[in-house]
Amino acid sequence: MAVPHPSPLSGASYSSVELLEGNDAMVMLEQRKLPLVEEYVTIRTAAETAAAIRSMVIRGAPAIGIGAAYGMVLAAQVIRGADARGFVDGMTAAASVLVAARPTAVNLAWAVDRMLVLARRIAETPGGHRVDVLADAARKLHRDDVAACRALGVFGAIHIPDGATVLTHCNAGALATGGYGSALGIVRAARDAGKRVRVLADETRPYLQGARLTAWELMRDGIDVEIITDGMCGHFLARGEIDVVVVGADRVARNGDVANKIGTYGVACLAHLHARPFLVAAPMSTLDPRTPDGAAIPIEERSSEEVTRIGEMTIAPLGVRARHPGFDVTPARYVTWLVTERGAVKGVDAGTLMV
Ligand code: MRU
Repeated sequence: MAVPHPSPLSGASYSSVELLEGNDAMVMLEQRKLPLVEEYVTIRTAAETAAAIRSMVIRGAPAIGIGAAYGMVLAAQVIRGADARGFVDGMTAAASVLVAARPTAVNLAWAVDRMLVLARRIAETPGGHRVDVLADAARKLHRDDVAACRALGVFGAIHIPDGATVLTHCNAGALATGGYGSALGIVRAARDAGKRVRVLADETRPYLQGARLTAWELMRDGIDVEIITDGMCGHFLARGEIDVVVVGADRVARNGDVANKIGTYGVACLAHLHARPFLVAAPMSTLDPRTPDGAAIPIEERSSEEVTRIGEMTIAPLGVRARHPGFDVTPARYVTWLVTERGAVKGVDAGTLMV
C-alpha cells in the first residue's frame, strides 16, 4: 500500500508518519519490515502509539517526537467529551505513557510536553475544537521539523567538499524525521547544491538501521551508497577513503555531549584520530538544556535478543547473555560541527544555542 496521504511537506513518496484527515487515526510506515516490505500500519490510540514507538515500528528521534504529538491528538479524540478536569487528567495520563516509551531521544518528551501544555491551555473549550487545535499544533510540529532539517542541511552542506565520501552511522534520514533527514538532509542538500557526494553507511548492529533504512532511502533518492559493517570504519578512515563523518543525534546535552546510536562514539574517536571532520546534525528540538552533560543522559537498554538474533534467526549459542545499550555518548570535544537550523557551531559551544 502506498502512503494514503503522502506528506506534502517533504515531497517524498513515503512518510514515516502522517495524521489522517479526520484526526482520529495516523499511519506509520512499518520500519521493521523495510527494505523488504513497504507497509503502513494504522494507529488509533495513544497506547498504540507508545507501543509502536517502543517496538520500533517508528524510530529516529524527531520521528518519534512527531508520532507522539499525533498520539496526543488521538488521546484527545478519545476523551473529547470529557469535562475540563477529566480532559486534563486524560491527557496527562496519555503523556506519561508516551514519554515512557523510549528514554534517550529527548524529542519525544519535548513534543509531548508541548502538546500537554497546549491541552491544559484549551481544556475549557468544547470537545471537537480541542482536537482540531491539537491536530493543527501537531501538524505544525511536523512541518517545522521538515523546515529545520532543510535549513540545517544547507548549513551542513558547506562542510561537504565536492566529490566527498561521507560516512554515516544508523539512519538519520527522512525515515527518522518528518521527511527530509538531519544527517542525510546534509547529504541531500550537498547533492542539491550540485556537489558530487557518495555515502558509506555503517550497517549499524544490532538493528541494522544503516543497512536496511539508510541504504533504502538513499537508493530511492538516487544517491550513491555502499554499506560497510561497523568494524570497517577504521580501515576506510586509515586509507583516506572517508572525507567527512555525518551523524544525527538523540540528545545533545548542555555541554555539547551527544547521545546517538550505539557505535557512534567509536566512529567519532576514529574520525578524531584520523583528523576527519565529525558533524552532528540535529534540529533544535534535540538540544536539551536541562541535561548538563552526557553522563546525565539516560541510555536505553534494549532486549539482548536483538543482539543474539537477526530477525527470526538466532545467531548465538542458546542461553548466552548479551548486552544491548541502544545509544552511546560522544564527548563534545570530538564534535567538529554541531549543525542545527540556526547554523553550525563547534561541539563544545553547543551551550551557546541553549541560552
Ligand atoms: O534506535 P533508533 O533507530 O531510534 O536510533 C536512531 C538514531 O540513533 C538516530 O541516529 C537519531 O535518532 C537521529 S535521527 C535524525
